[in-house]
Amino acid sequence: MKKGKILVVDDDHLITTMVEKVLSAAGMHVVSCGDCESALTTINESFSAVLMDLSLPRMDGILGIMAIKDQFPDMPCLVISAEEDVRRAVASMSAGASDYLRKPIDHEELVMRVHHAIETVRASIENQVFRNSMNQSDAEESWIGVSPKSLHVLERARQIANSDATVLITGETGTGKSLLARYIHSISALSDKPFVSASIASLPANLIESELFGHEKGAFTGAACEKPGRVEIAKDGTIFMDEIGEMPLSLQPKILRVLQEREFERVGGTQTHKMSARVIACTNRDLRRMCETGRFRQDLYFRVSVLPIEIPPLRERPDDIEALIDRFIAHLSAKTGQGKSLTPDARNALLKYHWPGNVRELQNVLECAFTLSPGASIPSNQLNFLFDSPAEIVASTSLAGRTLAEIEKLAIEQTLDSCDGNKAHAARTLGISEKSIYNKMSRAGLR
Ligand SMILES: Nc1ncnc2c1ncn2[C@@H]1O[C@H](COP(=O)(O)OP(=O)(O)OP(=O)(O)O)[C@@H](O)[C@H]1O
Ligand SMILES: [Mg+2]
Repeated sequence: MKKGKILVVDDDHLITTMVEKVLSAAGMHVVSCGDCESALTTINESFSAVLMDLSLPRMDGILGIMAIKDQFPDMPCLVISAEEDVRRAVASMSAGASDYLRKPIDHEELVMRVHHAIETVRASIENQVFRNSMNQSDAEESWIGVSPKSLHVLERARQIANSDATVLITGETGTGKSLLARYIHSISALSDKPFVSASIASLPANLIESELFGHEKGAFTGAACEKPGRVEIAKDGTIFMDEIGEMPLSLQPKILRVLQEREFERVGGTQTHKMSARVIACTNRDLRRMCETGRFRQDLYFRVSVLPIEIPPLRERPDDIEALIDRFIAHLSAKTGQGKSLTPDARNALLKYHWPGNVRELQNVLECAFTLSPGASIPSNQLNFLFDSPAEIVASTSLAGRTLAEIEKLAIEQTLDSCDGNKAHAARTLGISEKSIYNKMSRAGLR
């Protein structure tokens, strides 16, 4: 039996041939493509992982990863690259890459890392209903915070853990909202019950309802058999509605009903089911503003935000940066079996930076700097890029979670900036025609 089907994307034949040989010998089936365009027409659900080079003709590997993740959010994408640029490594992680292999690639390592990526995804899918076995001290350790603001967050989490009312966790992207939701579950009386997450932002709009509430056989094309939704699977545990601000307006009355009456029907079904789970929701949006502009129902907002907790951005809690650095470095050292530490200059650089992507960005930056530093110390020059062009970094580290249209708009805005507003120059840099840039600008509402 084959141990997975792998798509390798590299314009270097020597690499694709090597990968084919090594992974085939390990029992995997390998398909090669020389560029992202053909990779995008080849990829389908039967693949278990993608290996992607970064510098490819026409479409860059990072954009390729984003496009693949857009269609197949669970597909593990591993970068194989000769580039030593930490910024590119960070950007590829932000785009959704799960691992980064430096060329020249060690054969044994290649097999191991591909295998690991496939297994991790398989385990996480199988564990979507996961019984939270963490005990209180483990969980407490896992949401690290030593600053007064973080201690306040943890205190509040403890106060509300055992209430049945809906919790709304707010905070910028990467501040630890999802982690805090699991933490609240783990210290509540429901800790041995299921914790089920429904990521509203990553589900196609037409599937959100059936993912949440389930569907009956034949309810819509493709509904070949009946399927319980996540609210049902959560039973009397916790249902986590991740990014509730992305909930389509058309579905909001149904969410309001389930929160108010604790009742729902499966799509295509007539039987009314009771919701027994406790709801934790989170968002990085300003829901109050969304109410003002009519994009979020006010009655739903009041229902969702009975117990609000706000996680402040990392830049407002510098004491945490130091604690998080130590934890992440210790974790990376244990994971790789290589003890490495930051030089004092490197540590200072991290403390000075403003972290627009918050803890996730810190984690990604450290992981990349760790991987790319050859010796036992991580020097500050691995981190210089943080201060090159803050605007660029903001864009490159916060791509995940944006729509492709938003990413395109950002790319156009920044390229125009770097070309002093010269559209012809910007179009050439972006590899599109002048006519295209005008069209794209007008579609994106750019002047
Ligand atoms: N206080 C913390 N202690 C330890 N790890 C943290 C902390 N906050 C965040 N992290 C880590 O940072 C990463 C991002 O956290 P998480 O996914 O919970 O953020 P989020 O606010 O849900 O982000 P998004 O808005 O993008 O969904 C995760 O890997 C998480 O484990
Ligand atoms: Mg999250």
